[in-house]
Amino acid sequence: MAALALGQIWSRKLLPVPWLLWGLRGCASTNFKAADLQLQITKEPRKKPSPSDSLVFGKTFTDHMLMVEWNRKKGWGQPRIQPFQNLTLHPACSALHYSLQLFEGLKAYRGQDQQVRLFRPWLNMDRMLRTALRLCLPSFDKVELLECIRRLIEVDKAWVPGGTGTSLYVRPVLIGTEDSLGVNSASQALLFVILCPVGSYFPGDSVTPVSLLADPTFIRAWMGGVGDYKVGGNYGPTVLLQQEAQKKGCEQVLWLYGPDHQLTEVGTMNIFIYWTHEDGVLELVTPPLDGIILPGVVRQSLLDLAQTWGEFRVVERKITMKELLRALEEGRVREVFGSGTACQVCPVHRILYKDKHLHIPTMENGPELILRFQKELKAIQYGTKAHKWMLPV
Ligand SMILES: *Cc1c(COP(=O)(O)O)cnc(C)c1O
Ligand SMILES: *[C@@H]1O[C@H](CO)[C@@H](O)[C@H](O)[C@H]1NC(C)=O
Repeated sequence: MAALALGQIWSRKLLPVPWLLWGLRGCASTNFKAADLQLQITKEPRKKPSPSDSLVFGKTFTDHMLMVEWNRKKGWGQPRIQPFQNLTLHPACSALHYSLQLFEGLKAYRGQDQQVRLFRPWLNMDRMLRTALRLCLPSFDKVELLECIRRLIEVDKAWVPGGTGTSLYVRPVLIGTEDSLGVNSASQALLFVILCPVGSYFPGDSVTPVSLLADPTFIRAWMGGVGDYKVGGNYGPTVLLQQEAQKKGCEQVLWLYGPDHQLTEVGTMNIFIYWTHEDGVLELVTPPLDGIILPGVVRQSLLDLAQTWGEFRVVERKITMKELLRALEEGRVREVFGSGTACQVCPVHRILYKDKHLHIPTMENGPELILRFQKELKAIQYGTKAHKWMLPV
């Protein structure tokens, strides 16, 4: 009995339980396996960017990509690592017509020891599978997909830049490729992963603040909708509003929600406020995952880090514009910032709301917490010591 109990405790410690369950739940015939990977190396390797080239986000791609096809009859095909190439799609492809499409975004970092590591990729696999099920796209084994991605990065390892703040952006995509115009669940699908070397978001150890347009007539996501999933359909329609913000001299959109003008997200980032709450307690607050908030990996990581520090209250709670206005008036706001894979943590210094420019004193306050988060994340991502958040490639 005692031995059995001990065994159970051990297996819990070694294997994250939900992962184990998912792995077992998937029917064998509907999963692809990393052990079946077909490797086709390019005969025409392209010139890699030199360390002095500035890399514009998402414009430079590596030599290879991962590709796996699925159809309802045969299930998943064999995964392939193949030369980076164009897709051939039927003009009726359901991803193009009805947005049966989802994506992920994560990064691999080259450490000071030259080891390349992925940052918390398990959370991206969780989110991707959850989104696939929401769109009735085929499920897959997260452990196997992650291993395929690891192998892909291994093949293109020389493309992972080494400068400070640089990284390799990993973009997994799953699309329905049904070649008919009926609005149905797709009987064919394509999963692929492409890689982009990316430069530093902020030069050096500095951070540059952004200004936001907060206009309650624009709504990004709503209760019962799909704002908490990374589906392409959530992003295309925001481009116009991004332009609207720029016309009004702001860089990004602050997404408000509901009659009480809740602050939900910043562009494609989660939002945080570091302030003294009305009750006089210093806290870090971000909206809860109540259905309209994208469950960001960096969001979770900031909450985790702050919780382990235990120096101030860390809370997931609704935040309204009324509360923010009052806190600004009373001088209680220390820092407002966004979080996401692209920048990690991005300060906010101004919000245009009801035709008034509200100054946010983030930069005047250091920004102490933002720089601390940046430093701590950098140490984990580029560090030489193993960390449980990093998966070596
Ligand atoms: C991707 C995304 C985020 C940030 O998620 P990370 O996993 O931290 O990169 C936040 N909000 C929206 C709307 C997003 O699409
Ligand atoms: C891939 O498509 C782009 C445009 O969509 C085209 O410019 C390019 O030549 C294509 N590449 C190949 C190898 O066909």
